[in-house]
Amino acid sequence: MIKLIALVDSRWGVSRDEKIPWSFQEDRVFFREKTINSIVVMGRNTFSSIHYRPLENRVNLIVSKTMKSTPGAKVFRSLEEIVDKYADFWLIGGASLYKHALKNDLVHYALITRVNKDHGADKFIDAANLEHFSQKIIFNAKQYSILEMIKSDVIDRVQQ
Ligand SMILES: NC(=O)c1ccc[n+]([C@@H]2O[C@H](COP(=O)([O-])OP(=O)(O)OC[C@H]3O[C@@H](n4cnc5c(N)ncnc54)[C@H](OP(=O)(O)O)[C@@H]3O)[C@@H](O)[C@H]2O)c1
Repeated sequence: MIKLIALVDSRWGVSRDEKIPWSFQEDRVFFREKTINSIVVMGRNTFSSIHYRPLENRVNLIVSKTMKSTPGAKVFRSLEEIVDKYADFWLIGGASLYKHALKNDLVHYALITRVNKDHGADKFIDAANLEHFSQKIIFNAKQYSILEMIKSDVIDRVQQ
């Protein structure tokens, strides 16, 4: 299953000036719990934003047409190459990789932490691409909620 995980602001922003100023500790813990011992897939800019340091206790796969091999991570030229090789992974960003995956209908499941404030983001997830997902709020607090989204045809397949 291809699973997307993201922390967005109220306008579905994913970053501002290449950073995520609305990041907070509980979400970092949540992200870690969900992705630990799994495969994580990220674009080159996201890998750069974590200083090219692979996430611990996870298999790190980077999508890049320009990057050479890098210690502790594997580089693939396209997301499709990863899809061909791995059946189950977390897509952890950033904006362009989320966009590519959603537009090409590659995502089956998403966990979105959504903060209730507009942080003036300059990169976004296009929420229209999530219209075919059924949505459940699995956590709700004053400042943020966590949405679990499952693609409708995945639910249909499971129920058949
Ligand atoms: N809010 C969140 O949950 C969250 C999560 C992760 C990241 N972010 C933020 O998102 C920002 C980065 O987003 P971004 O859109 O600039 O970059 P990105 O998606 O992380 O990386 C873009 C690069 O990845 C490669 N790439 C992406 N899609 C590709 C595709 N379909 N095929 C081949 N290569 C592909 C390309 O590398 P080459 O140019 O080398 O070919 C491209 O230049 C950062 O500021 C980060 O902090 C936010």
